[in-house]
Amino acid sequence: MDREPLQEKLVSHFQWFHRHPELGFAEFETTARIREFLTGLGVEILDTGLETGLVAQIGSGEPVVALRCDIDALPITEDSSLPYASEYSGRMHACGHDFHTTAMLGAATLLSAEKGKLPGTVKLIFQPAEETAKGAAKVLATGVLADAVEIYGLHVSPDLPLRQIGVSPGATYAAVGAFTMKIRGVGGHAGYPHLSRDPIIALGQIIVAAQSIVSRNANPFDPSVLSITHVEGGNTWNVIPPEASIEGTIRSLGTDKYTSIAERLGEIVKGVELTSNTRIDFTWAMSSPATDNDPTLTAFVADTARELGLAVGPSRQGMGGEDFALYQQRIKGVFWNIGVGSPEGIHHPRFTANPAPLSSAATLLARLAEKALNRLVKSS
Ligand code: NI
Repeated sequence: MDREPLQEKLVSHFQWFHRHPELGFAEFETTARIREFLTGLGVEILDTGLETGLVAQIGSGEPVVALRCDIDALPITEDSSLPYASEYSGRMHACGHDFHTTAMLGAATLLSAEKGKLPGTVKLIFQPAEETAKGAAKVLATGVLADAVEIYGLHVSPDLPLRQIGVSPGATYAAVGAFTMKIRGVGGHAGYPHLSRDPIIALGQIIVAAQSIVSRNANPFDPSVLSITHVEGGNTWNVIPPEASIEGTIRSLGTDKYTSIAERLGEIVKGVELTSNTRIDFTWAMSSPATDNDPTLTAFVADTARELGLAVGPSRQGMGGEDFALYQQRIKGVFWNIGVGSPEGIHHPRFTANPAPLSSAATLLARLAEKALNRLVKSS
Protein backbone atom coordinates (compact mmCIF):
# COMPACT_ATOMS: atom_id res chain seq x y z
CA MET A 1 0.00 0.00 0.00
CA ASP A 2 1.47 3.37 -0.86
CA ARG A 3 1.63 6.13 1.66
CA GLU A 4 -1.05 8.56 0.48
CA PRO A 5 -4.11 6.31 0.69
CA LEU A 6 -2.96 5.08 4.14
CA GLN A 7 -2.52 8.69 5.29
CA GLU A 8 -6.03 9.67 4.10
CA LYS A 9 -7.60 6.67 5.77
CA LEU A 10 -5.76 7.39 9.02
CA VAL A 11 -6.74 11.08 9.09
CA SER A 12 -10.45 10.23 9.09
CA HIS A 13 -9.97 7.78 11.99
CA PHE A 14 -7.81 10.32 13.86
CA GLN A 15 -10.57 12.93 13.56
CA TRP A 16 -13.13 10.45 14.88
CA PHE A 17 -10.95 9.62 17.91
CA HIS A 18 -10.35 13.32 18.49
CA ARG A 19 -14.10 14.04 18.49
CA HIS A 20 -14.80 11.18 20.92
CA PRO A 21 -12.32 11.45 23.83
CA GLU A 22 -12.86 9.13 26.81
CA LEU A 23 -11.16 9.12 30.22
CA GLY A 24 -9.03 6.30 31.67
CA PHE A 25 -10.82 2.94 32.11
CA ALA A 26 -13.92 4.42 30.42
CA GLU A 27 -12.66 4.11 26.83
CA PHE A 28 -15.62 1.98 25.67
CA GLU A 29 -16.48 3.70 22.36
CA THR A 30 -12.77 4.02 21.58
CA THR A 31 -12.15 0.31 22.23
CA ALA A 32 -15.17 -0.66 20.11
CA ARG A 33 -13.84 1.46 17.24
CA ILE A 34 -10.35 -0.10 17.48
CA ARG A 35 -11.88 -3.59 17.64
CA GLU A 36 -14.02 -2.92 14.57
CA PHE A 37 -11.02 -1.65 12.60
CA LEU A 38 -8.80 -4.61 13.52
CA THR A 39 -11.55 -7.14 12.90
CA GLY A 40 -12.00 -5.59 9.45
CA LEU A 41 -8.31 -6.29 8.76
CA GLY A 42 -8.70 -9.87 9.96
CA VAL A 43 -6.33 -9.23 12.89
CA GLU A 44 -6.67 -11.54 15.91
CA ILE A 45 -7.70 -9.87 19.18
CA LEU A 46 -6.45 -11.70 22.27
CA ASP A 47 -8.72 -12.64 25.14
CA THR A 48 -7.06 -10.68 27.96
CA GLY A 49 -10.08 -9.82 30.11
CA LEU A 50 -9.38 -6.08 29.77
CA GLU A 51 -12.63 -4.08 29.99
CA THR A 52 -11.22 -1.20 27.95
CA GLY A 53 -8.22 -1.23 25.68
CA LEU A 54 -7.13 -4.44 23.99
CA VAL A 55 -4.19 -6.47 22.79
CA ALA A 56 -4.09 -7.75 19.20
CA GLN A 57 -1.55 -10.01 17.55
CA ILE A 58 -0.19 -10.42 14.06
CA GLY A 59 1.99 -13.36 13.02
CA SER A 60 2.71 -16.46 15.09
CA GLY A 61 5.34 -18.14 17.25
CA GLU A 62 8.51 -16.73 18.77
CA PRO A 63 10.16 -14.27 18.94
CA VAL A 64 7.52 -11.84 20.22
CA VAL A 65 7.87 -8.08 19.91
CA ALA A 66 5.33 -5.57 21.30
CA LEU A 67 4.16 -2.18 20.09
CA ARG A 68 2.26 0.02 22.53
CA CYS A 69 -0.03 3.01 22.26
CA ASP A 70 -2.27 4.66 24.86
CA ILE A 71 -5.90 5.47 24.10
CA ASP A 72 -7.28 7.66 26.94
CA ALA A 73 -8.01 11.41 27.08
CA LEU A 74 -7.82 14.14 29.75
CA PRO A 75 -10.48 15.91 31.86
CA ILE A 76 -9.99 19.21 29.96
CA THR A 77 -12.58 21.21 27.97
CA GLU A 78 -11.21 21.75 24.46
CA ASP A 79 -10.73 25.36 23.37
CA SER A 80 -9.46 24.78 19.83
CA SER A 81 -11.24 25.89 16.65
CA LEU A 82 -10.75 22.52 14.96
CA PRO A 83 -13.71 21.36 12.86
CA TYR A 84 -13.26 17.98 14.57
CA ALA A 85 -12.95 19.33 18.14
CA SER A 86 -14.15 17.20 21.08
CA GLU A 87 -17.91 16.65 21.17
CA TYR A 88 -17.79 16.32 24.95
CA SER A 89 -17.45 19.13 27.47
CA GLY A 90 -14.75 18.35 30.02
CA ARG A 91 -12.99 15.72 27.94
CA MET A 92 -10.24 16.22 25.41
CA HIS A 93 -7.44 14.43 23.60
CA ALA A 94 -4.93 17.02 24.79
CA CYS A 95 -1.99 14.60 24.95
CA GLY A 96 -2.09 13.15 21.44
CA HIS A 97 -3.27 9.68 22.44
CA ASP A 98 -5.72 9.90 19.50
CA PHE A 99 -2.65 10.27 17.26
CA HIS A 100 -0.91 7.30 18.92
CA THR A 101 -4.01 5.10 18.59
CA THR A 102 -4.44 5.97 14.92
CA ALA A 103 -0.74 5.40 14.15
CA MET A 104 -1.07 1.91 15.69
CA LEU A 105 -4.07 1.17 13.47
CA GLY A 106 -1.86 2.20 10.54
CA ALA A 107 0.92 -0.11 11.78
CA ALA A 108 -1.64 -2.94 12.07
CA THR A 109 -2.70 -2.27 8.46
CA LEU A 110 0.91 -2.47 7.22
CA LEU A 111 1.85 -5.50 9.33
CA SER A 112 -1.26 -7.50 8.48
CA ALA A 113 -0.49 -7.03 4.77
CA GLU A 114 2.91 -8.67 5.45
CA LYS A 115 1.85 -11.23 8.03
CA GLY A 116 2.93 -14.27 5.97
CA LYS A 117 6.48 -12.93 5.98
CA LEU A 118 6.79 -12.10 9.70
CA PRO A 119 9.26 -14.47 11.42
CA GLY A 120 7.44 -14.29 14.76
CA THR A 121 4.64 -12.38 16.49
CA VAL A 122 3.87 -8.71 16.92
CA LYS A 123 1.60 -7.88 19.88
CA LEU A 124 -0.18 -4.54 19.54
CA ILE A 125 -1.13 -3.03 22.89
CA PHE A 126 -3.91 -0.45 22.92
CA GLN A 127 -3.44 0.59 26.56
CA PRO A 128 -6.17 2.25 28.65
CA ALA A 129 -5.62 4.82 31.42
CA GLU A 130 -2.12 6.15 30.81
CA GLU A 131 -2.99 9.56 32.24
CA THR A 132 -3.79 8.05 35.62
CA ALA A 133 -0.66 5.86 35.42
CA LYS A 134 -2.80 2.76 36.08
CA GLY A 135 -3.20 1.22 32.62
CA ALA A 136 0.24 -0.29 32.01
CA ALA A 137 0.11 -2.20 35.31
CA LYS A 138 -3.30 -3.57 34.34
CA VAL A 139 -2.05 -4.75 30.94
CA LEU A 140 1.05 -6.35 32.52
CA ALA A 141 -1.11 -8.12 35.11
CA THR A 142 -2.93 -10.00 32.33
CA GLY A 143 0.36 -11.78 31.56
CA VAL A 144 -0.10 -11.10 27.86
CA LEU A 145 3.45 -9.74 27.55
CA ALA A 146 5.22 -12.59 29.36
CA ASP A 147 6.80 -13.76 26.09
CA ALA A 148 7.67 -10.30 24.66
CA VAL A 149 11.40 -9.58 24.37
CA GLU A 150 11.31 -6.02 22.98
CA ILE A 151 8.76 -3.20 23.19
CA TYR A 152 8.38 0.10 21.33
CA GLY A 153 6.08 3.04 22.01
CA LEU A 154 5.62 6.58 20.77
CA HIS A 155 4.53 9.97 22.03
CA VAL A 156 3.76 13.12 20.07
CA SER A 157 6.00 16.10 20.78
CA PRO A 158 4.94 19.72 20.24
CA ASP A 159 8.60 20.78 20.64
CA LEU A 160 10.11 18.87 17.72
CA PRO A 161 9.82 20.01 14.09
CA LEU A 162 6.91 18.38 12.24
CA ARG A 163 7.56 14.67 11.53
CA GLN A 164 11.01 14.70 13.20
CA ILE A 165 11.75 11.67 15.37
CA GLY A 166 13.21 12.34 18.83
CA VAL A 167 14.94 9.44 20.55
CA SER A 168 17.58 9.31 23.30
CA PRO A 169 19.04 6.57 25.50
CA GLY A 170 18.21 6.38 29.21
CA ALA A 171 15.50 8.43 30.93
CA THR A 172 13.45 10.96 28.97
CA TYR A 173 10.27 10.89 31.12
CA ALA A 174 10.61 11.27 34.86
CA ALA A 175 9.93 9.01 37.80
CA VAL A 176 6.82 10.64 39.23
CA GLY A 177 4.97 10.32 42.49
CA ALA A 178 3.35 12.04 45.42
CA PHE A 179 3.90 12.34 49.17
CA THR A 180 1.64 13.28 52.07
CA MET A 181 2.29 14.31 55.66
CA LYS A 182 -0.16 14.48 58.51
CA ILE A 183 1.26 16.49 61.42
CA ARG A 184 -0.40 15.87 64.80
CA GLY A 185 0.34 18.32 67.61
CA VAL A 186 -1.71 19.69 70.48
CA GLY A 187 -4.05 22.60 69.82
CA GLY A 188 -4.83 25.47 72.15
CA HIS A 189 -5.08 29.24 72.73
CA ALA A 190 -2.77 31.20 70.40
CA GLY A 191 -1.89 33.48 73.33
CA TYR A 192 -0.56 30.51 75.37
CA PRO A 193 1.61 28.61 72.84
CA HIS A 194 3.65 26.97 75.63
CA LEU A 195 0.58 24.84 76.41
CA SER A 196 0.39 23.60 72.78
CA ARG A 197 2.52 21.62 70.37
CA ASP A 198 2.16 23.74 67.26
CA PRO A 199 1.82 21.74 64.00
CA ILE A 200 1.99 24.95 61.93
CA ILE A 201 5.59 25.59 63.05
CA ALA A 202 6.48 22.01 62.12
CA LEU A 203 4.78 22.49 58.73
CA GLY A 204 6.82 25.64 58.05
CA GLN A 205 10.09 23.96 59.03
CA ILE A 206 9.39 21.05 56.68
CA ILE A 207 8.59 23.38 53.75
CA VAL A 208 11.88 25.23 54.16
CA ALA A 209 14.07 22.23 55.01
CA ALA A 210 12.70 20.18 52.09
CA GLN A 211 14.10 22.75 49.64
CA SER A 212 17.63 21.76 50.64
CA ILE A 213 17.22 18.22 49.24
CA VAL A 214 17.33 19.14 45.55
CA SER A 215 19.77 22.03 46.09
CA ARG A 216 22.17 20.28 48.55
CA ASN A 217 21.69 16.50 48.42
CA ALA A 218 20.83 15.70 44.79
CA ASN A 219 23.55 15.67 42.14
CA PRO A 220 23.12 18.89 40.10
CA PHE A 221 23.72 16.84 36.93
CA ASP A 222 20.72 14.60 37.72
CA PRO A 223 17.56 16.65 37.13
CA SER A 224 15.00 16.40 39.93
CA VAL A 225 12.15 18.41 41.43
CA LEU A 226 10.44 18.48 44.81
CA SER A 227 7.33 20.68 45.00
CA ILE A 228 5.03 21.19 47.97
CA THR A 229 1.68 21.94 46.42
CA HIS A 230 -0.98 21.70 49.13
CA VAL A 231 -0.85 22.72 52.79
CA GLU A 232 -3.64 22.87 55.33
CA GLY A 233 -3.82 23.77 59.00
CA GLY A 234 -6.03 25.87 61.24
CA ASN A 235 -9.14 27.88 60.52
CA THR A 236 -8.92 31.11 62.55
CA TRP A 237 -6.49 33.71 63.96
CA ASN A 238 -6.44 32.96 67.68
CA VAL A 239 -6.36 29.15 67.86
CA ILE A 240 -3.38 26.86 67.42
CA PRO A 241 -4.82 23.89 65.52
CA PRO A 242 -4.16 20.32 66.62
CA GLU A 243 -3.27 19.14 63.12
CA ALA A 244 -1.82 20.27 59.80
CA SER A 245 -1.11 18.51 56.52
CA ILE A 246 1.18 18.72 53.50
CA GLU A 247 1.01 17.23 50.00
CA GLY A 248 3.50 17.42 47.18
CA THR A 249 5.29 15.72 44.33
CA ILE A 250 8.77 14.40 43.60
CA ARG A 251 10.01 13.99 40.04
CA SER A 252 13.39 12.72 38.92
CA LEU A 253 15.02 11.50 35.70
CA GLY A 254 16.05 8.25 37.33
CA THR A 255 14.12 5.81 39.47
CA ASP A 256 16.88 5.33 42.08
CA LYS A 257 17.29 9.11 42.41
CA TYR A 258 13.57 9.42 43.12
CA THR A 259 13.91 6.91 45.93
CA SER A 260 16.89 8.68 47.51
CA ILE A 261 15.03 12.04 47.47
CA ALA A 262 11.96 10.48 49.09
CA GLU A 263 14.13 8.79 51.73
CA ARG A 264 15.96 12.06 52.50
CA LEU A 265 12.59 13.79 52.89
CA GLY A 266 11.66 11.09 55.39
CA GLU A 267 14.82 11.87 57.42
CA ILE A 268 13.96 15.60 57.48
CA VAL A 269 10.45 14.75 58.66
CA LYS A 270 11.90 12.65 61.48
CA GLY A 271 14.14 15.53 62.54
CA VAL A 272 11.27 18.03 62.59
CA GLU A 273 9.10 15.54 64.46
CA LEU A 274 11.76 15.41 67.18
CA THR A 275 12.36 19.16 67.43
CA SER A 276 8.68 20.15 67.24
CA ASN A 277 7.48 17.39 69.54
CA THR A 278 4.72 16.46 67.11
CA ARG A 279 3.83 13.14 65.45
CA ILE A 280 4.13 13.12 61.66
CA ASP A 281 2.76 10.37 59.42
CA PHE A 282 4.76 10.53 56.19
CA THR A 283 3.85 8.45 53.15
CA TRP A 284 5.29 8.50 49.66
CA ALA A 285 4.75 6.48 46.51
CA MET A 286 5.98 6.38 42.93
CA SER A 287 3.14 6.25 40.42
CA SER A 288 5.49 5.52 37.55
CA PRO A 289 9.24 4.96 37.36
CA ALA A 290 11.42 6.88 34.88
CA THR A 291 11.47 5.65 31.30
CA ASP A 292 14.71 3.84 30.48
CA ASN A 293 15.56 3.49 26.81
CA ASP A 294 17.99 0.68 26.01
CA PRO A 295 21.05 2.30 24.31
CA THR A 296 21.46 -0.35 21.58
CA LEU A 297 17.77 -0.35 20.72
CA THR A 298 17.75 3.48 20.76
CA ALA A 299 20.34 3.39 17.96
CA PHE A 300 18.17 0.80 16.17
CA VAL A 301 15.15 3.14 16.31
CA ALA A 302 17.21 6.10 15.04
CA ASP A 303 18.68 4.03 12.17
CA THR A 304 15.28 2.65 11.17
CA ALA A 305 13.75 6.15 11.16
CA ARG A 306 16.61 7.46 8.96
CA GLU A 307 16.12 4.54 6.54
CA LEU A 308 12.53 5.75 6.14
CA GLY A 309 13.79 9.22 5.27
CA LEU A 310 12.79 10.77 8.60
CA ALA A 311 14.88 13.41 10.34
CA VAL A 312 16.14 12.22 13.74
CA GLY A 313 17.25 14.22 16.77
CA PRO A 314 17.40 13.76 20.52
CA SER A 315 14.23 13.53 22.64
CA ARG A 316 13.42 16.46 24.87
CA GLN A 317 13.75 15.32 28.47
CA GLY A 318 10.88 16.34 30.69
CA MET A 319 9.47 16.04 34.18
CA GLY A 320 6.21 14.51 33.00
CA GLY A 321 5.58 10.85 33.77
CA GLU A 322 4.80 7.97 31.41
CA ASP A 323 3.74 4.50 32.50
CA PHE A 324 5.50 2.98 29.48
CA ALA A 325 8.34 2.83 32.02
CA LEU A 326 6.60 -0.12 33.73
CA TYR A 327 6.93 -2.24 30.57
CA GLN A 328 10.60 -1.25 30.35
CA GLN A 329 11.21 -2.63 33.84
CA ARG A 330 10.46 -6.08 32.39
CA ILE A 331 11.09 -5.79 28.66
CA LYS A 332 13.90 -4.01 26.82
CA GLY A 333 12.44 -1.19 24.81
CA VAL A 334 12.40 2.33 23.50
CA PHE A 335 9.93 5.18 23.87
CA TRP A 336 10.36 7.69 21.03
CA ASN A 337 8.79 11.01 20.06
CA ILE A 338 7.45 12.41 16.82
CA GLY A 339 7.04 16.14 16.09
CA VAL A 340 3.44 17.23 15.55
CA GLY A 341 3.98 21.01 15.48
CA SER A 342 1.35 22.06 18.03
CA PRO A 343 1.32 25.78 18.91
CA GLU A 344 0.55 24.82 22.54
CA GLY A 345 2.04 22.15 24.76
CA ILE A 346 0.40 18.89 25.79
CA HIS A 347 -2.37 19.06 28.41
CA HIS A 348 -3.32 22.56 27.12
CA PRO A 349 -6.93 23.22 25.97
CA ARG A 350 -5.62 24.41 22.60
CA PHE A 351 -3.15 21.57 22.04
CA THR A 352 -3.50 20.30 18.46
CA ALA A 353 -1.54 17.46 16.92
CA ASN A 354 -1.04 17.99 13.19
CA PRO A 355 -2.13 14.67 11.62
CA ALA A 356 0.33 15.00 8.68
CA PRO A 357 2.95 12.65 10.20
CA LEU A 358 0.43 9.84 10.95
CA SER A 359 1.54 7.55 8.12
CA SER A 360 5.21 8.17 9.01
CA ALA A 361 4.53 7.16 12.62
CA ALA A 362 2.59 4.09 11.45
CA THR A 363 5.34 3.07 9.05
CA LEU A 364 8.05 3.47 11.68
CA LEU A 365 6.10 1.35 14.20
CA ALA A 366 5.57 -1.40 11.63
CA ARG A 367 9.18 -1.33 10.40
CA LEU A 368 10.54 -1.49 13.96
CA ALA A 369 8.50 -4.61 14.69
CA GLU A 370 9.40 -6.29 11.41
CA LYS A 371 13.11 -5.48 11.63
CA ALA A 372 13.30 -6.45 15.32
CA LEU A 373 11.77 -9.87 14.59
CA ASN A 374 14.20 -10.47 11.72
CA ARG A 375 17.17 -9.44 13.87
CA LEU A 376 16.00 -11.64 16.80
CA VAL A 377 15.50 -14.68 14.56
CA LYS A 378 19.00 -14.30 13.12
CA SER A 379 20.63 -13.98 16.53
CA SER A 380 18.81 -16.95 18.10
NI1 NI B 1 0.48 11.36 26.87
